[in-house]
Amino acid sequence: MPKVKTIQHVFDRETLYNLNKLESDGYIGQLIGPVGTGKESYVFLSKDYKDRSVAVKIHRHNIQSFNKIPAYLKLRGAKTGGFFKTIDDWSRFEYNFLSRAFNSGVNVPEPYRLFGNIIVMQFIGEESTPARLAVKDTSFDLDGWYSEIIGFIITMGKKHFVHGDLSPYNILNFKGIPYIIDFSQALKLTGLTEEYLFRDIRNINTWFKKLGKQNLLLEADVASRIQESH
Ligand SMILES: Nc1ncnc2c1ncn2[C@@H]1O[C@H](COP(=O)(O)OP(=O)(O)OP(=O)(O)O)[C@@H](O)[C@H]1O
Ligand SMILES: [Mg+2]
Repeated sequence: MPKVKTIQHVFDRETLYNLNKLESDGYIGQLIGPVGTGKESYVFLSKDYKDRSVAVKIHRHNIQSFNKIPAYLKLRGAKTGGFFKTIDDWSRFEYNFLSRAFNSGVNVPEPYRLFGNIIVMQFIGEESTPARLAVKDTSFDLDGWYSEIIGFIITMGKKHFVHGDLSPYNILNFKGIPYIIDFSQALKLTGLTEEYLFRDIRNINTWFKKLGKQNLLLEADVASRIQESH
C-alpha cells in the first residue's frame, strides 16, 4: 500500500504516479512535513530506504503562473511542448543547475534524483527540523558570509550560469553555514542574461548593506572577476 496515499487529495494523478515510482525505487518514503510551500512548489521532508533524510520538491502541475514558463524555457534554450512536459522541463532545468552548482563546489543540497516534476535532494537541517532561511536567521559571520556568497556567484559565473533568484529567501543558514537553494530560475550566463547576474549581486548587496556590511563589491567588479577565466 503506497504511503503517499495519505496526501492523495493534494496531488494530481501524474504527481502521484511519480511519487509512487520514487517510493518503490527507495528514493523516498512517507512524506513528512511540508517543509515549505511556495506558489509553484511544495517541499516535504522524507526518508529514503537507507533512512537518510531527504527533501522532496514537487513542482505543481496546477501552477498559476505557467504562462510565463514557455518564454523562460526558451531563454534557457529548451523546446516547449505540452503542459506536463513543460513542468517536467522546468524541474529538469532546476535539477541540472542544482547538480552543476553541487559539482562546482557551491554549498547546495546534494541532488539525489529527478523524476518528472519531482526533485529529491539532501535535506538541510537537523533531525526533522529544516535549517532556517537566512532572512530569518542572521546569526552568522557577516564578512565571511559575504565573501562566501559572492564567491559562489563567481564560481557559478565561471561555469557560465547564474542562479537568477538569489536572495536571503533562497539561502538557508545551517549551523552558521550558508546553503543556496531553489535553482528554479537559474539560467545560462550569456550577454542576454547578464542582467540576472547583476540582479543577484544587487540583491545580495542590498541585504548585506541592511545588515551593516561595509566595502560591498560593485556589480562590475564581480562581473570582471567572472570574466577573468573566459
Ligand atoms: N534541501 C532542503 N532542505 C531543507 N529545506 C528546504 C530544502 N529545499 C527547500 N527547503 C525549504 O522549502 C522552501 C521552498 O523551497 P524552494 O525555495 O526551493 O521553493 P519555492 O520558493 O517554492 O520556489 P519555486 O516555486 O520558485 O521553485 C524553502 O524556503 C526552504 O524553507
Ligand atoms: Mg524559494
